[in-house]
Amino acid sequence: MQAQISRLLQATTGLNLTSISPSIVERAVRRRMENCTTTCIEDYWQHLERTTGELDALIDEVVIPETSFFRNREPFHALSSYLTEEWLQAHPLGKLRLLSVPCSTGEEPYSIAMTLLDARMHPGGVCIDAVDISTRALTSARTAIYGDHSFRGKELQFRSRYFRSTEAGYVLDESVRNMVHFTRGNLLDPRFLSDKAPYDVVFCRNLLIYFDRPTQQLAFTALEHLVRPGGLLFLGHAETILASQEVFVPFAQAGAFAFRKVLPRPALTGLRSSVPVAAPRPATAQKTAVPMGLPLPSRTAGSLEEAHRLADSGHLDAASVLCRNYLEVHGPCARAYFLLGLVQDAEGNAARAEEWFRKALYLDPEHLESLVHLALQVEHRGDTATAQRLRGRAERAEKRRSTGAGR
Ligand SMILES: C[S@@+](CC[C@H](N)C(=O)[O-])C[C@H]1O[C@@H](n2cnc3c(N)ncnc32)[C@H](O)[C@@H]1O
Repeated sequence: MQAQISRLLQATTGLNLTSISPSIVERAVRRRMENCTTTCIEDYWQHLERTTGELDALIDEVVIPETSFFRNREPFHALSSYLTEEWLQAHPLGKLRLLSVPCSTGEEPYSIAMTLLDARMHPGGVCIDAVDISTRALTSARTAIYGDHSFRGKELQFRSRYFRSTEAGYVLDESVRNMVHFTRGNLLDPRFLSDKAPYDVVFCRNLLIYFDRPTQQLAFTALEHLVRPGGLLFLGHAETILASQEVFVPFAQAGAFAFRKVLPRPALTGLRSSVPVAAPRPATAQKTAVPMGLPLPSRTAGSLEEAHRLADSGHLDAASVLCRNYLEVHGPCARAYFLLGLVQDAEGNAARAEEWFRKALYLDPEHLESLVHLALQVEHRGDTATAQRLRGRAERAEKRRSTGAGR
C-alpha cells in the first residue's frame, strides 16, 4: 500500500521521492494518518481516493519548500541588467511579464518584485505570476510574514527598506505584495498556464533537480512554451545541463544560470527565395553579419560588453571579431577567451569551445562562467567525473566571490 501511495505521489508531483529520501513518503503518510485519526493504511488509501483535498494535503508533506530571499544573488543582478540595458529600451511602454515556478513560500517572486522596484520599474507596467503545487506554501506566501531563516547572507539592506519588523516576524510591504499574483499549479500538468501568453522572464529554480530524467524532459518542454522567443529562463545552478542548446543559449552573466530562448529564424524572402535552402542549422548556430545599427568592429578594442550582447543575440561573427580585436589591443583576457568559447559553442564546435574555456581558466582558474560552461561541455561528451569536479570548483569560486574572499 505504501508503494502504491508513493507511485501516486510521484506520478502527480514528478518528484523522485525515493531518491530524495527513502523514508519521506512513510513519514508523510504517518502524519496524514494521525491527522485523519486512522491507524489502518488501507483505510487511509480509501480516504485518499475519496476525499477532495487529501492528496493536496499529502503533497504538502513531501515537497521541499526550501528557499530564501535573493537566493544566489547573481540571477537578480542579471535580471536587473537585462531590464535596464535591454528590455526597457526595447519596450518603453510595454508590460513586462514574469513567472516564478515553483515559487514556494514567496521569497523568490517577492525578490523579483523588489529587483524591479529597485530598477525603477513602475508596478503598473509589470505582471509577476507565481505558481507552486503546495497549498501550504502558497498560504504562507500570501501571508508574507517571514522569519530569520528567509534572510541569508550579509547583504540584507533590502530588509529595512521593504519589511517592517514585528513580533510575528518581518512583514513585507504592501507595495511589493501587490505586485505578485499567486496561483496553485503543477508544472507537469499539460494544461499548465495554457491560458497565458508566454513570459518575458521565467524563473524555474531548484525543482528540476528533484525530477528523474524523463520528467525533467517533460518539464523542460513546458518551460520552452512558457518563455517567449528572446525571453530569459533562469535555472538553479545544478540544473543548467538540462537547457536544450537548440532552444536556449546561455545568457552569460557570472553565476546567473540564465538562458535566452532563441528567436525563430527569419524567413528567407526576395531574390533568394527560389534558391534551395540547406537543412536549417540549430538557431543557436546562426551566423549573422554585423547587424544594422550596430558599430562595425574596428581595429581598436571593442567593448566586451558589446561582444557579449552580440553573442547572446546570435550575432556570432560580430561578437567574435570584437573579442579578437580586444585581445589584439589588450593582450590575454579570460573574459574574451570565454566569449570566444561561447561563440564556438553556439556554432556547434564543442571541441573548439572547450579549448577557449580551458584557455580562460588557465589565465583565471576561478573564472566562474568558464567553469560552468566547461562542465556542461565535458558532461555532454560523457565525462561526468570531470564535470562534477568543475562544478565543485565553480561552487567554491562562486562562494568566494559572494563572500568577497580571494580575488
Ligand atoms: C526547493 S523549492 C524552490 C523554490 C524557489 N524556486 C527557490 O529556488 O528558492 C521547490 C518547490 O517546488 C514545488 N513543487 C514540487 N513539485 C512541483 C510541481 N510539479 N509543480 C509545481 N511546483 C512543484 C514545491 O512545493 C516547493 O515549494
